[in-house]
Amino acid sequence: MAKVYVTRELPGTALDTLKRVHEVEVYQSTDGGAIPREILLEKVRGVEAILPLLTDKIDSEVFEAAGDTLQVVANYAVGYDNIDVGEASRRGIVVTNTPGVLTEAVVEHTWALVLSVVRRVVEADTYTRAGKYRAWGPGLFLGMQLEGKVMGIVGLGRIGTLVAQRARRGFEMSLVYHTRHRNEEFEKEFEADYVSLNELLSRADVVSLHVPLTNETRHLIGRDQLAKMKPAAYLINTARGALVDEVALVEAIESGKIAGAGLDVFEFEPQVNERLTTMDNVVLTPHIASATVEAREEMVRMTVSNILAVLAGKEPENLVTAS
Ligand code: GLV
Ligand code: GLV
Repeated sequence: MAKVYVTRELPGTALDTLKRVHEVEVYQSTDGGAIPREILLEKVRGVEAILPLLTDKIDSEVFEAAGDTLQVVANYAVGYDNIDVGEASRRGIVVTNTPGVLTEAVVEHTWALVLSVVRRVVEADTYTRAGKYRAWGPGLFLGMQLEGKVMGIVGLGRIGTLVAQRARRGFEMSLVYHTRHRNEEFEKEFEADYVSLNELLSRADVVSLHVPLTNETRHLIGRDQLAKMKPAAYLINTARGALVDEVALVEAIESGKIAGAGLDVFEFEPQVNERLTTMDNVVLTPHIASATVEAREEMVRMTVSNILAVLAGKEPENLVTAS
C-alpha cells in the first residue's frame, strides 16, 4: 500500500478505486478555498503520490517536503504550468495530466463566452431582471453576427482545433490560425489561413487563445498585440490568464481599442481586475471551462489510472515531459 495525498475532494466515484488499493488522504476544504501551502507541505511528507489541482504550486519545495518516497504527481488538469516538470524529472518523479477528456467541455465553454459577449447575453439578462424592458426595440442590445466573420485561433491543439471546427461548420465563419506546428491538412479541410500572430490579430473578429502557459507564451497578448486588433473585435481566453497582460487588456477595452472580452481565466486568479468587473462588454466566469459533470468525472478516472500505473511500475498513459 502506497500513500496518496489528494488536495481536494473530487466528483464521482473513481477515487474509490484508488482507496481500495492504496492509503488515500483527501484534503477537506471547508470554504471552497485551495489547500493552504503549509498544510500541503506537511501532508505530502512520505507520500508516494500527490494528486494536486491546477491551483497548487508543485515545485522543489514540495518535492523536498515529500522526500524521496515521491514517485508521481498526477495533475487534475490538462494544463501543468503549476508544476515544475523539469525539477520533477531531475528527481525521477513522474508527472501526468488529463488531456482529451475535457476538450469538448472547454470548447463548449469557449463558445458560451463567444456567444455571450457578442450577443450581449449577460448585459441583457441583467437589464431584463432589473425590470427595464419596456418595449421591443430595433436598436435594443445590438450585437455582432458571427456568420461570415473571421475567427482567429491561437494554438491548434485538441481544443483549438475543435473550436475552429465549430466556427467553420457551426457558425460559417472563416478561419485564420497561428500555431507552432503548421497543419496543412487542417487548412485544406477547414479552408483556414495559417498566418503570423500579428496578421491574425489584425484580421480576426474574434480571437481565441488555446496555447499552454510557458515562459514563451506569458503575456503573448500585451499592449502591442491588443493595438493590432480591430476595434470591433473580441478577445476570448479559456486557456490561462497570464497569456494576457491583464492591465493592458483593461486599458484596451476602456479606450475602445477592442470591443470586449470573454474571460474564464485571469492573470492573478482568483483575483479579478476590479475594472473588468465594472465593464458591460466583458463576460467573466471563474475558471469553469472544463466544469461539466462528464469532463470532471473523466478527469478523476484518468488521474487515478495514471497514479495506479506509476505505483505498479508501469508507464502512465498521460505522461508529461519537460519541454
Ligand atoms: C484547466 O484549466 C485545465 O488545465 O485542466
Ligand atoms: C488540450 O487538451 C489541447 O491539446 O488543446
